[in-house]
Amino acid sequence: MAHIVGAIATSHVPAIGRAIAKGLQQDAYWKPFFDGFVPVRQWLETARPDVVVCLYNDHGLNFFLDKLPTFAVGAAPRYTNRDEGWGIPQVPPFAGDPALSWHLIEHLVAAEFDITSCQEMDVDHAFTLPMELLWPHREWPVKVVPVSINTVQFPLPSARRCYNLGAAIGEAIRAWPTDQRVLILGTGGLSHQLDGERAGFINRRFDQAFMDSLTADPRWATRLSIHELVERTGTQGVECLMWLAARGALGEHARCLHRNYHIPISNTASGLMLLEPADAAPGEAHACEARAAQAVA
Ligand code: DHB
Ligand code: FE
Repeated sequence: MAHIVGAIATSHVPAIGRAIAKGLQQDAYWKPFFDGFVPVRQWLETARPDVVVCLYNDHGLNFFLDKLPTFAVGAAPRYTNRDEGWGIPQVPPFAGDPALSWHLIEHLVAAEFDITSCQEMDVDHAFTLPMELLWPHREWPVKVVPVSINTVQFPLPSARRCYNLGAAIGEAIRAWPTDQRVLILGTGGLSHQLDGERAGFINRRFDQAFMDSLTADPRWATRLSIHELVERTGTQGVECLMWLAARGALGEHARCLHRNYHIPISNTASGLMLLEPADAAPGEAHACEARAAQAVA
């Protein structure tokens, strides 16, 4: 059966693409952000995933307000990036994995998730930038399956629903009769608000509690309504739904291997977390959380 090697959750701010294009990774503004990915790339060398299931939110490149599915699963042989107007260079296309796509679609529909299957799909910065942070040479050593969750047009799916979607994706992968190694990637958040009276809003305390919860009590944030989540994280911070879906795919217990948190990247509190499935709940003073607590103290 296929094996989930782990989950990586990260922010996906367009300015990251511009920083990469200009080679600013060691610049004082960017270093604390880019340095966070070094241990993740080291881990990838041993984790050796064959395929990435990427949970992200399209921002108007592939879906617009006229037709906006709540949950969309890519089933294309190839996914392309296009100009979104941010002025960031486009990246080479990604090879799809239609066999896994259709396996996921079958399983999700059987599990009563009403999803849209997409045999053509463009992928935006929320997909491409995290991929580029993991594989900076832009030679993708993995196939991909994009899964887009609506965070653009209300009503949004609840946090509980997103967690359960991720859990169903995890079950489907573990039941996929292959020996493929699958990485879950969740992109979005953490707290940020780009528009309106609270533009620039960031909530460090909530973000830290949210990251802690992903190992200690992963359903913690699923008890909040979408409006409560927006209140705590900002209109765009609600993209943390992708982290919940990614966490759901790992099953009951997970351990944190690495995390990073840095404010601000553009208007966003940038977060990064590397999680592995575990057999039991982590102990209280888990090394990763303790280190992270020190880093923000
Ligand atoms: C920013 C953050 C996002 O999540 C996004 O999709 C676009 C812009 C920002 O902080 O600039
Ligand atoms: Fe976004």
